[in-house]
Amino acid sequence: MPQFRPEFLAKVDEAIAHYPAFKRSASLPLLHLWQEEFGYISNEGIHWIAEKLGLQPIQILELVTFYPMFRQKPFGKYHIKVCRTLSCALGGSSELHERFKKTLRVEGDPHGPIHSPDGKYTLEFVECLASCGTAPVCMINDDFHEKVDSQEKINALLAKCN
Ligand code: FES
Repeated sequence: MPQFRPEFLAKVDEAIAHYPAFKRSASLPLLHLWQEEFGYISNEGIHWIAEKLGLQPIQILELVTFYPMFRQKPFGKYHIKVCRTLSCALGGSSELHERFKKTLRVEGDPHGPIHSPDGKYTLEFVECLASCGTAPVCMINDDFHEKVDSQEKINALLAKCN
């Protein structure tokens, strides 16, 4: 079991206290708290949350597998999100994704997150990032990048990832 910071445990207790009649309703808040604290939802996390709420682990697991925002594996220090929705698809998002793959020398199913072996990067297609007029667009962690349409631009973005 991981070390729990007292702040984390206090937030968990507070979240549960919001649902005195139905502790089960705290499942999603607890999953968010766990992911925020540990980076992803481990098997350990699923069991811990289930026990905390008096549920079966399967009831937590089904939420983790249903909602795409929950991660079941650790993500890289840099999370690269490439938009694949229509405008970006027409504007070259497949090429952008491919260029990132080649530059980072990573392989994997483009339908899911692709992790670099050193744990530094996670590359993933996502849906519309709300800048459809400046395709193709991507995000690296919380930073937004528009018209990423050349290898030079990709190199410049990755050079900032230390
Ligand atoms: S389609 Fe890519 S930002 Fe909207």
